[in-house]
This record gives sequence, C-alpha cells and structure tokens, in this order.
Amino acid sequence: PRCQIIGAPVQTGAAQPGCLMGPAAFRTAGLPDVLTELGWHVEDLGDVTLPQIKPVAHANPALKNLAEMIEWTRLLAAAAYDAARTCDRPIFIGGDHSMAAGTVSGVAKHAAEQGRPLFILWLDAHPDLHTLDSTTSGNLHGTPVAYYTGQPGFDQFPPLSAPVDPRNICMMGIRSVDPAERQRINDLGLTVHDMRAIDEHGIVRPLSAFLDRVQAANGMLHVSLDVDFLDPSIAPAVGTTVPGGATFREAHLIMEMLHDSDLVTSLDLVELNPFLDERGRTAKLMTDLTASLFGRSVLDRMTRSYA
Ligand code: ARG
Ligand code: MN
Ligand code: MN
Ligand code: MN
Repeated sequence: PRCQIIGAPVQTGAAQPGCLMGPAAFRTAGLPDVLTELGWHVEDLGDVTLPQIKPVAHANPALKNLAEMIEWTRLLAAAAYDAARTCDRPIFIGGDHSMAAGTVSGVAKHAAEQGRPLFILWLDAHPDLHTLDSTTSGNLHGTPVAYYTGQPGFDQFPPLSAPVDPRNICMMGIRSVDPAERQRINDLGLTVHDMRAIDEHGIVRPLSAFLDRVQAANGMLHVSLDVDFLDPSIAPAVGTTVPGGATFREAHLIMEMLHDSDLVTSLDLVELNPFLDERGRTAKLMTDLTASLFGRSVLDRMTRSYA
C-alpha cells in the first residue's frame, strides 16, 4: 500500500507559536521510516508553503490571521485532493488544527467523486465547531469543523465542493466545549463521546458502532488526531492542554481497532508544538500511535472485522 506524507507548518490558527515546527518533529521522530518498516511504500512530499498574502477584513474584531487560514485552506485542500487520488492513505502532519479546513475539504472532494460518503473520526479535547462569528478567542483552530460542514459565514473561504454531513462525524475525547459549540452539536446531530462517556463505556463499544456505520455505507474515513486528545501527562507538547484526556492504552486501542477495520483513508496529526515538548516524548508518542494505525502490533493476530 502507498502512503504520502504532506507537511503543513500552520501555526496561525493557534494562540502560541510552535506548531510551525511540527512537521520537522514528526520527521525527526522517524515517522516515514516507521511506516516503511511496516511494509508501506512511503513518499514524503515535503512541506506546503504559504506565499505572501494581504490581510482580510471581518466584522468580528477577535479573529486572528484570517487571511492566512483562508490561503492555507486553499493550498491544503488542493494538496489533500491530489494525495487522496494518488495514494491509499495520505498523512497530513501539522500544524495547528485550522489545517483540517483544507485537508478535510480536499479529501471530501475526492470521496464525492468516488460516489462514497466521507466519515470523520475527530479525536480531540475540543469540538472546534466555532464559526467566524461565534469564536471569542479568535483562534481559528477552533473553527475547521464549522467550515467543512458548510456552516454559514465562511464566504471569504474557498467554496466547498462537498460539505461533510455532520451526522457522519464522530468525536471522541471531548472535554472542553464553549456555549456556541454546545448548541451547534445539538442542532447538527454530530455523535460526540465526551470523556464521561469514555469513562462509563470505554472506547470499544462506541468506536465499533461508528466503524460499523462507515463499513455499511461503504464510506471513506478521515481520522483527525489532535495532540490534546491525549492526557497532558503523556502528551505535554500542545498549547491547549486539558486535564482528563485519553490514556496511553485507550489511544493505542483506538489506533489498533482502526487498523483492523481497514477503513481509514486519510489522517491528520495536528497541534504538536515541539517547543513545549519534553525530550521529544510527544512527537514519539504520536508517531507510535500512527504506527499502531498502520499495522504495528505486539503479536500476530487474526485481523478482526468490527463490522
Ligand atoms: N474552543 C477554544 C477556542 O475556540 C479552544 C479551541 C482549541 N482548538 C484546538 N484545535 N486546539 O479558542
Ligand atoms: Mn483514494
Ligand atoms: Mn482540535
Ligand atoms: Mn484540541
């Protein structure tokens, strides 16, 4: 199987600088080699770069770096569309989560052309469901899900060729939700397993139920993994830590189940801020989680279908 790696050194969506260094940290942690050792044909396409751009005005004075997000969205959507057409499973290494406006809309265009629905597994402490009007922090990494599901107010952004159906989104690990996002979750009908739900039911039942739906619909599956999904004690390298996140084993089990399902068609690794890391441990953990998703396992075992 073929995998392309695309670097997205985006940090204009986050409050703190540092995600710019994310792609370099993933490469330093050995991500391409790890996947090669697992039998994948890996092509690292290098980093996408942002040209000089002019500021873009908006009625919400809190917004930061709107023009940058718009241009990143355009560039990354094109890169993601090409990669999804060319290989079996592109990996987009970030970069803050605003990059998902581009990566998801790009793979969504490819899925629509295949006549297949796109499903999203959003692993994050946050739902990132603000619109440009509802964000009060103005940090645009809080907005990609609203963009790629076609919520109003993104007129200055590239038009979506294939908005993602919110009912095809499953979020896990959620534990920090702003009031406007809470309302939107209810209105749009996303599936959200917050940390309380994971405490009560674990991850196997909710994840199996979602994977069954993807399989039954012959869907494509994009996984978006935010570092802050993980508990800060094991993954300190992120600007938006929230206590009470996923454990080491919960996170690996999700990746192992995703591997066994064979449903994943693209992956984002986002919000890694190497400036905040401790001797590379977060970069290494994110790389090990990716290895589990790409087939690393302790023992040989029968590939189980979760359908
Ligand atoms: N909801 C908060 C905000 O809008 C936090 C967003 C954090 N998002 C992220 N991708 N880390 O500012
Ligand atoms: Mn494809
Ligand atoms: Mn996020
Ligand atoms: Mn987050």
